[in-house]
Amino acid sequence: MQRKGIILAGGSGTRLWPITMGVSKQLLPIYDKPMVYYPLSVLMLAGIREIAVITTPEDQAQFQRLLGDGGQWGVRLIWLVQPSPDGLAQAYLLAKDFLNGAPSAMVLGDNIFFGHGLPEILASASARETGGTVFGYRVADPERYGVVDFDRDGTVKAIIEKPEVPPSNFAVTGLYFLDGRAPELAARVKPSPRGELEIVDLLEFYRAEGALQVEKMGRGFAWLDTGTHGSLLDAGNFVRTLTERQGQQVGCPDEIAYRLAWISRDELAARAEIFRKNDYGRYLAAVLAE
Ligand code: TTP
Repeated sequence: MQRKGIILAGGSGTRLWPITMGVSKQLLPIYDKPMVYYPLSVLMLAGIREIAVITTPEDQAQFQRLLGDGGQWGVRLIWLVQPSPDGLAQAYLLAKDFLNGAPSAMVLGDNIFFGHGLPEILASASARETGGTVFGYRVADPERYGVVDFDRDGTVKAIIEKPEVPPSNFAVTGLYFLDGRAPELAARVKPSPRGELEIVDLLEFYRAEGALQVEKMGRGFAWLDTGTHGSLLDAGNFVRTLTERQGQQVGCPDEIAYRLAWISRDELAARAEIFRKNDYGRYLAAVLAE
């Protein structure tokens, strides 16, 4: 069965208050694009064309205004709401009918990935039909994340959410490739003391049966946080530096759709025309002229 995508873009964004009192975090700019473009690009790079976007009830209309039905990029977006932010694993319950037994790739709407070889690691995770794959990334402050506890021989003993004493520096990123059983297993997850259906508890079902792969994303990758005022600005500056230095876009769904031949030359030209007054449009025109 074809793998389907989920972008989880709800949440309350309390760390970014007062900004996110009026607008979803995932709609805020990361330099020249809305944040949600970046995780969407990751799913597209993984070859996924059917994607459920999960938002809060209040924010859904704005996301729809921005992204439409996805047809401009040759993908199909369907819309789901999460009534309250009850945890990442809840996404699989909300998306159960949409997934309809298919394997999935879920990405958090505020996660930005960049690195040489990203399409390849996505392809290999996507090709694994059973079990789950998540990515471990070395961070300086693991206690803020789900952290991987490795055995001496490198097998995963546990993934621990926000541990006071982190067993390693490897945080689990917000990108999860799970097989078609995810909704069924998510239904067995009990709310944690903080009242959330925790993704680490869902991953534990896979780990316990030896079906969880933790791929390390090496130092050649950037996995950026956008959840605080400083990290949001840093992520924007990072994207700006790369974009201006290389003259290449980071996380541009129009370019990805064109290079994957999901949209035609004429369709890309029409998109370039919409943005003709700015650098985004000039960039699309340059891609067309290559
Ligand atoms: P977090 O950064 O953990 O939470 P948040 O976005 O609500 O922000 P804050 O901690 O400042 O209050 O969420 C990570 C991502 O997952 C983010 O893109 C929002 C999303 N999310 C949901 O969509 N639903 C949820 O129930 C939770 C917990 C998070």
